[in-house]
Amino acid sequence: MQKQLEEICEKALKEIENANSKADIEKIKLEYLSRKSILNNIKKGLKDLSPDQRPILGAFANEVAQKIEKSVEKKEKDIYHKELEEKLETEKIDITLPGKTIPSGKPHPLTKTIEEIVTIFQGMGFTVTANENSPEVETEYYNFDSLNFPKDHPAKDMQDTFYTKVAPNVLLRSQTSGAQIHTMENKKPPLRIISPGRVYRCESVSARKNNLFHQIEGLVIDKNVTFADLKGTLNEFTRLYFGEARPTRFRTSFFPFTEPSAEIDVQCIMCKGKGCRTCSQTGWLEILGAGIVDPNVLQGVGIDPEIYTGFAFGMGVERLAMLKHAINDIRLFFNNDIRFLEQF
Ligand code: PHE
Repeated sequence: MQKQLEEICEKALKEIENANSKADIEKIKLEYLSRKSILNNIKKGLKDLSPDQRPILGAFANEVAQKIEKSVEKKEKDIYHKELEEKLETEKIDITLPGKTIPSGKPHPLTKTIEEIVTIFQGMGFTVTANENSPEVETEYYNFDSLNFPKDHPAKDMQDTFYTKVAPNVLLRSQTSGAQIHTMENKKPPLRIISPGRVYRCESVSARKNNLFHQIEGLVIDKNVTFADLKGTLNEFTRLYFGEARPTRFRTSFFPFTEPSAEIDVQCIMCKGKGCRTCSQTGWLEILGAGIVDPNVLQGVGIDPEIYTGFAFGMGVERLAMLKHAINDIRLFFNNDIRFLEQF
């Protein structure tokens, strides 16, 4: 039996030495170390030996088993390292290959522009009023009458404003100025708010005009507010928005809800005032409407114009975005062409 064990040991160790893969090792384990292995069969036969032989051969059988086990363990480790090295060699990563870029979404250029403008005004102490404060589906009262528009004002014409079939006086707001009235009805002065949102006008669509566009309304009401405050605020805004101090020009204008009223031009971004196609050779670009809030408007919402004064302004978001980024067609904002949107 001793001889048999020695032979098994020798054979097993040789096989282990020649083993080259995990599969080889598994086979060896099954053959020599499992319950059904030759070694185990021999161990089972120990009980038939004489009592003085049994412990000696038993110990020897264990010794053989341990030897085989140890040798298997060592070989397993060797194979593991060998395979790892092979893997490292064959699966080398080429770090010079260009990576796969995952396209990621980002805010629409108009959303970005609104955020930029809002941030500038927040920095000057303005609060943003939420949209629910001033709905897009509006009544004639908030869009026109409360803003001191006379009954027969041409802007109220069906040609300029979208009316709905809900009721004769329900329309899609043509300006954000209604937000002034909603704000003053809900809050007591002092007020310093801006209100961004969509507006609608019944116009033929072109490179310069779209039926839907965005405005940002501004309103300041306090004691002793003057035209100088309006000028200072809007000059600071243009400086921050266009990134440098740009000459501005305040032109006399007319809006029913402000008196005096002004239209504000900024020196042409393209030609720096020399005159070009963008500014129709004038050197100036209109960016804002503004003025001192008309006493009639204040009275209409129960604010005493003898105590409070204020200024209001309104700007077109598309126009400001177009000027800053040299975009020549307003329709680009609404066509959702990824080649355009990607550039922002
Ligand atoms: N609502 C005016 C427009 O749409 C702009 C404006 C707002 C003018 C506030 C004065 C004050 O043209």
